[in-house]
Amino acid sequence: MLSPELAEPLLRGRFGRPYLYLPQTETTQRMLDAAQPEGAVAVTEEQTVGRGRMGRRWEAPAGSSLLVSTVLRPPPDRRAAELTLVAGVCVAVVVERATGLAAQVKWPNDVMLNRRKVAGCLAELKDGAVVLGIGLNVNQSPAELPAETKVPAGSLRSVTGCEYDRAPILADLLLELEQRYDAWRDDGLAALYEDLGARDFLRGRRVTVDGADGTAQLITRDGRLAVQTDSGVIEVESGEVLFER
Ligand code: BTN
Repeated sequence: MLSPELAEPLLRGRFGRPYLYLPQTETTQRMLDAAQPEGAVAVTEEQTVGRGRMGRRWEAPAGSSLLVSTVLRPPPDRRAAELTLVAGVCVAVVVERATGLAAQVKWPNDVMLNRRKVAGCLAELKDGAVVLGIGLNVNQSPAELPAETKVPAGSLRSVTGCEYDRAPILADLLLELEQRYDAWRDDGLAALYEDLGARDFLRGRRVTVDGADGTAQLITRDGRLAVQTDSGVIEVESGEVLFER
């Protein structure tokens, strides 16, 4: 369980204060608002209306995964859209520490393990603050994962065969997020650009994005996806990328 009694003693930084917890809720994104301090965190075991990007649902059986949202107040000169990349690097690093396997960031908001999507990040604006939501599939069995997804879904357990204690992973993720968010707030994407580039899932893959086909080149220094098409290099600001396996 991720109840405050179990999770709070593991927290080491300022993220997670306050730590708001409900065993079940519609979505952790709605447990927070701009009145909360930066670093306030909402956690649940089960969402009844979990939200993904592009109006999709985010589904996970009760007690199987990490479902967490955080309040952030980035300075106005930072692109809030980059926060899903910041979160993606944090999740990838934490997944690597937990599993010992290499994880990748699939621009703009997914984390991949063994070519399966194990996590998604969602940044929503709320009254001048950003509510950053992260869903990380931890202990779902293969049969419990959503089947009808464009990118095949996975969990740490489905990839490694091991079950994981979720509370230490959550504590590690909140600390990683705090440290990398602070670095991004001060120096922008440059602060994590090498770690992001080293984990760029799409680089070199054939992709379709924004109606264009091509080969993904890299994530630019301002967080866009550069794609080599027949008519030159385009830089995509946001969108959904379909890729060839
Ligand atoms: C995506 O890949 O489409 C983003 C998924 C984001 C899911 C997380 S789970 C915690 C938070 N609450 C939600 O309803 N969504 C985000």
